[in-house]
This record gives sequence, structure tokens and C-alpha cells, in this order.
Amino acid sequence: MQRMKITVVGASGLIGTKVVEVLTHEGNDVIASSRSTGVDVLTGEGLADALAGADALVDVTNSPSFEADAVMKFFTTSATNLVDAARRTGVGHYVALSIVGVDGLPDSGYFRAKVAQERIIRESGLPYSIVRATQFAEFADAITESMTDANEVRVPDALIQPIPADEVASAVAGAAAGEPINGIVNVGGPDRITFEQLARDALARKGDETKTVVVDQAARYYGAALAARSLVMPD
Ligand SMILES: NC(=O)c1ccc[n+]([C@@H]2O[C@H](COP(=O)([O-])OP(=O)(O)OC[C@H]3O[C@@H](n4cnc5c(N)ncnc54)[C@H](OP(=O)(O)O)[C@@H]3O)[C@@H](O)[C@H]2O)c1
Repeated sequence: MQRMKITVVGASGLIGTKVVEVLTHEGNDVIASSRSTGVDVLTGEGLADALAGADALVDVTNSPSFEADAVMKFFTTSATNLVDAARRTGVGHYVALSIVGVDGLPDSGYFRAKVAQERIIRESGLPYSIVRATQFAEFADAITESMTDANEVRVPDALIQPIPADEVASAVAGAAAGEPINGIVNVGGPDRITFEQLARDALARKGDETKTVVVDQAARYYGAALAARSLVMPD
């Protein structure tokens, strides 16, 4: 395989750390960037240096705040700054990580912001690849907690397809090492399960027998009302 120079932005995050590991292991020259290395996607600080001479840019940043306005500002500003810096430095491939079904859930401020991020990349004129993943398996506890009210976990009547972060990172690294697809590739975990099952498994892992899981049509996923298959891989 040809050795490439690849800049990973968001390199200290859950997925970024693993993408750096995979790409480095495969013999690439990897520039791991985040605020701790002096690269800020909101101010643009350090971006030109981090991207100089790179064949590809991997954007696995995430907003520190999930509040609707803050997350919209994060993903629109970061994508705009990354596109500008990539153009100026001649980076030939923008790889971004997004979410399966992201354009079907406009009730969620977070999902609206990811759609806006995708659009800026798509319309930038840069060669690009967008990897859309289902929910990370590592977030099962956080998702369950977000639906917990006192001793009840109120879950939507919908499916979820958790994917291990390692598999997401492999897919993102594979996209970065490959040619731009100028489109979207979806990746999902091995099993589609109900939110009810996800919550029961999360509670069982923690040995928490104090809580009841209730399927509730009105329960939301981070603000979004889900249809049964909103978050799972398309057939
Ligand atoms: N959660 C899911 O199930 C799921 C599913 C599919 C796709 N995704 C997407 O996956 C992506 C990565 O998620 P993750 O969980 O790996 O994120 P994470 O662990 O929260 O990591 C976020 C990264 O962004 C960096 N960052 C934050 N603000 C920055 C700034 N202003 N300038 C530069 N770097 C900044 C952070 O480093 P510093 O704070 O050190 O700067 C960190 O490296 C997200 O875009 C998310 O939408 C998530």
C-alpha cells in the first residue's frame, strides 16, 4: 500500500484516537491534530500548518456542547474553516464522519447540524468521502442514561444498530486511504436491536436492578422522535 500523509482533526477523540492508530499502523505519515496540539477548527488556528502537504484530511471532530445553536455553530464553522484551509493547502480529499439516517431526523438540533456539516463538504468542490455510522456501541450507557427519569428508562419503539468504535475507525481509515467517492458510505453494527433491549443490556451490565424499562411512543432520542428504522442501516 502507498504511504500517504493524512491529517486527522479530532485526533484525541474516541474515534480519532483509533483512526490515528490504524493509519499509523498501516505505515502512513499521520498528523494528529486537536486543540491540545494547537489546532482549533473554530478559530482556524494551526490548520494551515497541520494540513500542509497532506493527501487527505479526516474530520472526526465533535462539538463540546450538544445544545442546538452551539452544535450548529460548531459544525458549520468547523467545516467552513476546514474546507478553506484544505483548498489553500491543496488537500485532495476531505473525509468526514457522520451518522446513518442523519437527514431523516430534523427534530434534533444535533442531527440538523450534522446535515449542515455534510452539505458544506459536499458543496465545497473538494473531493470528499462521507462515512455515516450507526450509534457507537460504547455509547449504550450514555443513551440509556439520557432516557432515564428517576427509576424508569423510557425508550422509543424503535431499532438501533450499535457498532464498535474500532469498526467505525477502520471504515474511516479505509476511506482516507482510498480514492474520494464524492458520496456517502454507510457502516453499521452486526445486529439491529430494540432500544428496549439496549437499555436492558446496559442496566444488566451495571447490575442495576432498581430501574424499569418502559417502551413509550413519546420517548425521544436526543430530541428526535424516531420511526422504527430511523437509525438503522438502509436495506
Ligand atoms: N455518537 C455516535 O454514536 C456517532 C455515530 C456516528 C457518527 N458520530 C460522529 O462521530 C464524530 C466523532 O465523535 P467522537 O465521539 O469520536 O468525538 P469525541 O470523542 O467527542 O472527540 C471530539 C474530538 O474533537 C476535538 N475538538 C473539539 N473541539 C475542537 C476544536 N475547536 N478544534 C479542534 N478539535 C476540536 C476534540 O479534541 P480537543 O477537545 O482536545 O480539541 C476531540 O479530539 C462526531 O462528528 C459525531 O457526530 C457519532
